[in-house]
Amino acid sequence: MCGIVGYIGPQPVVPVIIEGLRRLEYRGYDSAGIAVAGNSSGLELRRAPGKLRNLEAVIADSPIHGTFGIGHTRWATHGRPTEENAHPHRDCTKTLVVVHNGIVENYLALKKQLTAAGHTFVTETDTEIIAHLIEEEIKQAPGIVLEEAVRRTVHRLTGAFAIGVLSANEPNKLVAARMGPPAVIGIGDGEFFLASDVPGILHHTRNIHFLQDGELAVLTTSGVTLTDFEAKPLPLKVQRITWDPIMAEKAGYKHFMLKEINEQPRAIRDTTLGRVSFDTGKVFLNEMQITDEDFRTASQITIAACGTSWHSGLAGKFMIERLARLPVDVDYASEYRYRDPIADPHAIGLLITQSGETADTIAAQRELISKGSKTLAICNVVGAAVTREAQGTITTNAGPEIGVASTKAFTAQLTALFILALHLAQVRGTITDAESLHLVDELSKIPSKVEDILRSVDDQCFQLAKVFHTANDFLFLGRGIHYPIALEGALKLKEISYIHAEGYPAGEMKHGPNALIDETLPVVCIATKDPDDPSSVLKYEKTLSNIQEVTARSGRVIAIAIEGDEEIKHLVEHTIHIPQAPELLLPILEVVPLQLLAYHIAVRRGCDVDQPRNLAKSVTVE
Ligand code: F6R
Repeated sequence: MCGIVGYIGPQPVVPVIIEGLRRLEYRGYDSAGIAVAGNSSGLELRRAPGKLRNLEAVIADSPIHGTFGIGHTRWATHGRPTEENAHPHRDCTKTLVVVHNGIVENYLALKKQLTAAGHTFVTETDTEIIAHLIEEEIKQAPGIVLEEAVRRTVHRLTGAFAIGVLSANEPNKLVAARMGPPAVIGIGDGEFFLASDVPGILHHTRNIHFLQDGELAVLTTSGVTLTDFEAKPLPLKVQRITWDPIMAEKAGYKHFMLKEINEQPRAIRDTTLGRVSFDTGKVFLNEMQITDEDFRTASQITIAACGTSWHSGLAGKFMIERLARLPVDVDYASEYRYRDPIADPHAIGLLITQSGETADTIAAQRELISKGSKTLAICNVVGAAVTREAQGTITTNAGPEIGVASTKAFTAQLTALFILALHLAQVRGTITDAESLHLVDELSKIPSKVEDILRSVDDQCFQLAKVFHTANDFLFLGRGIHYPIALEGALKLKEISYIHAEGYPAGEMKHGPNALIDETLPVVCIATKDPDDPSSVLKYEKTLSNIQEVTARSGRVIAIAIEGDEEIKHLVEHTIHIPQAPELLLPILEVVPLQLLAYHIAVRRGCDVDQPRNLAKSVTVE
């Protein structure tokens, strides 16, 4: 998730773009850059690693001017957050630049083709490929206009992209195209804007066209023309935006948490893109010092993480043990080094962390390294502390998470863990090609299933919040891989609503906690099943018995069940239905209603959802 701003018009370009980027900095702050043209010096570029203020300092030292330009604030996916990898990226002729938000899935194959055609690359990014592809199209068909070269280029890209392109050879023109990540066009009075999101340009214009997938826009000083990728003209659909600037930063959502819950389909998709082949089912985990041989000979995986990330680790244990038949230990990172862990040089340490800066997780990583383990990170921030010490990283491309309660980072972690489990299974030979292909196909359907859940259960969770927001305690129950999701549901509720909540393995209730049940206690039971998986069905049946134990004691059950399970409705007070999926992918779907339930209860209780009391987004003390 990155921020793009482009401008063409009579105002000084640099301040317009920098101010826009500042308002989009929530989308990424690993590096920033700007390119302007339309001056006597041709195309000028300034870039800097880190926050936008570093770029401003560079520009203050070495000012640039022009009549049109584009800027970018980066959330790194491919390539470290360095100055070279900062956008905009240039072609070989250094006359055209590209800014990009998204992931070019086939960039390695394209890079190979372009290298064979004589192109040289100076960055590790997938974006640089796009600039070279456009250059190549122009070379192949001299005289074609920039938009035609861009149009031909987008046909060669697979993955997700929102791009902005300018060429010093075609003055006062910006070209934008979208397939996946958001992009908007702002229509001002004799001036035109491009941005990833409305807040980047709202202080200049409220007249916005939301670029749709498959649309290409050409911005010039005289207006904006719109076509599809086949050059068929399309009408601009300009909407008047009435949000205030703060609302706009939250894309119209009342809270960042709700926005981030709704971003989960994209976060899951972006975490999957480029890592699996939907044709063969093969997983690719490149750019690591941990080799397939290390994975093949690993004696076990030791997961260390905190909080929500620990919950994803617990679910990951089920995925890895089931698919790769490799034992997995899951430790609280804050406990790991205090239990004098037994070292095994063939164990691989797996650190899961949204921020990559959690002090407990860093301490556990150092303990693992000191015992001779290689460490692998699942992290949402490229270049964060944990990734610097790890031999490999799987980046969860969820984009910056601003709400303190983790939501989209969690489902992205579950996605990354599923991909890792599949990879381990493939290199260890514990899965057939047909099984891999089936699971990858099911994984590809998860983002749209999450979209369905977001559409279908939000109002139900809102209504449930009306009924249950005054409860003093909540219980969350689940079995097997659904138990970590029960823990996560309880954590979400307690941290943002301040209601005491506990997650418990459903089968353990009769060993003590049943004593808590009375008619005031809401009990959320995860009672899903994969009908094609006998062990999942068996677990489901046992969970139904546990539900009956709760209702027999007057507990008020809210069940999370699979669409079409009408039978469960007769046993419980409320049922939230989610789509069906294979057992190991169900957790990604199950957690979404639990996030929404916690959210609506917290809002109803008047809590500060995005910044709950006593908590911080990044916990850098032990
Ligand atoms: C809860 C939450 C925390 C974090 C924990 C670890 O919603 O966000 O429990 O999961 O503090 O943080 P990271 O993942 O950054 O290491």
